[in-house]
Amino acid sequence: MSAFRALVLHEEGGKVVPRLETIDESRLPPGEVTVAVEYSTLNYKDGMILEGQGRLVRAYPHVPGIDFAGTVLRSESPEFRPGDPVMLTGWRVGEVQWGGYAERARVPAAYLFHRPEGLSARQAMAIGTAGFTAMLAVIALERHGLKAIWRKAPGADLRANDVLVTGAAGGVGSIAVILLSALGYQVFASTGRPELRDYLTELGAAGLIDRAALAAKPARPLDQERWAGAIDTVGGATLATVLTQLRYGASVAACGLAGGSDLPATVIPFLLRGVNLLGIDSVMCPHAERIEVWQRLARGLPPDQLDSATQIVSLAEVPALAPRILKGEVRGRIVIDLAASD
Ligand SMILES: NC(=O)c1ccc[n+]([C@@H]2O[C@H](COP(=O)([O-])OP(=O)(O)OC[C@H]3O[C@@H](n4cnc5c(N)ncnc54)[C@H](OP(=O)(O)O)[C@@H]3O)[C@@H](O)[C@H]2O)c1
Repeated sequence: MSAFRALVLHEEGGKVVPRLETIDESRLPPGEVTVAVEYSTLNYKDGMILEGQGRLVRAYPHVPGIDFAGTVLRSESPEFRPGDPVMLTGWRVGEVQWGGYAERARVPAAYLFHRPEGLSARQAMAIGTAGFTAMLAVIALERHGLKAIWRKAPGADLRANDVLVTGAAGGVGSIAVILLSALGYQVFASTGRPELRDYLTELGAAGLIDRAALAAKPARPLDQERWAGAIDTVGGATLATVLTQLRYGASVAACGLAGGSDLPATVIPFLLRGVNLLGIDSVMCPHAERIEVWQRLARGLPPDQLDSATQIVSLAEVPALAPRILKGEVRGRIVIDLAASD
């Protein structure tokens, strides 16, 4: 097949307009490896790109999709052979070069990743950039001392197992809840959607925290010590509040800005409690680190819970979902099945 289906973004009258089109393989960007894409995903950044926000895309027409998984069709690189199961997240694919919302993608070999054994293309995309980021955050917290306390240990301070995930019902948040609870933590899920209690409980949340309780600018530089660790996808006043509630020496991994990119905080929690603010970047994360992250994802994510957090859609359904993910209305992960009929 030299022609394939793709969701193509056009810039028309200052607006970004998506269209499902059939395009020829000769239009694919240069790269050593051509992939038959089976699944892609919708992340927050995909929502921004589809809605033309943040000037992430500079040249149109453009094929978005920051993640994809499929099978190698042709390769000029010794690293990959036709038939290899592969996937890709990040490296600014889907932003500065064409991405995964198409039945074919062509990329530099250095960006492509061999899919770990046992991980289907669909599961890889149920994880996608969002789940990869959640695992990066867990690993960052562990490297800074987070460790689950064995529940039955005599005299154990069980509150030392309490961890917080903000934006919990979103993509990064949902996978973070699953991962942390599977590791033995008591996960408190901060959400603005209390109606999703059953969903979050099924993923492993031990309790819910009202999003509004964290969203106001902190009134005091230090609050009660509460969290042994936290994964924040919201930013803004929420992240500032989390800093005031970390236990002595604990860390928060900052992944996102769903609630704002500012940080109205003081340095007092760093100085008086020795807490840590850990930055998480999934896009340019080095290849060697990706190997550890994907190995842990392949063995540490219970498949049933991953399925519970996942919805499958067709390419044609994606444009309508873009404004919804930016408004925080999407639950968990959206996987795009390139073979699904429109
Ligand atoms: N650092 C990285 O490499 C990296 C990688 C992936 C994503 N991210 C960032 O992480 C964030 C989450 O990404 P995602 O794909 O998980 O998006 P998502 O699925 O839309 O999740 C974001 C969640 O944040 C909460 N939220 C939305 N608007 C909010 C607001 N105004 N105030 C407070 N909470 C709000 C909602 O959860 P509730 O309904 O449960 O409250 C929403 O579901 C985004 O900012 C994204 O850019 C960063």
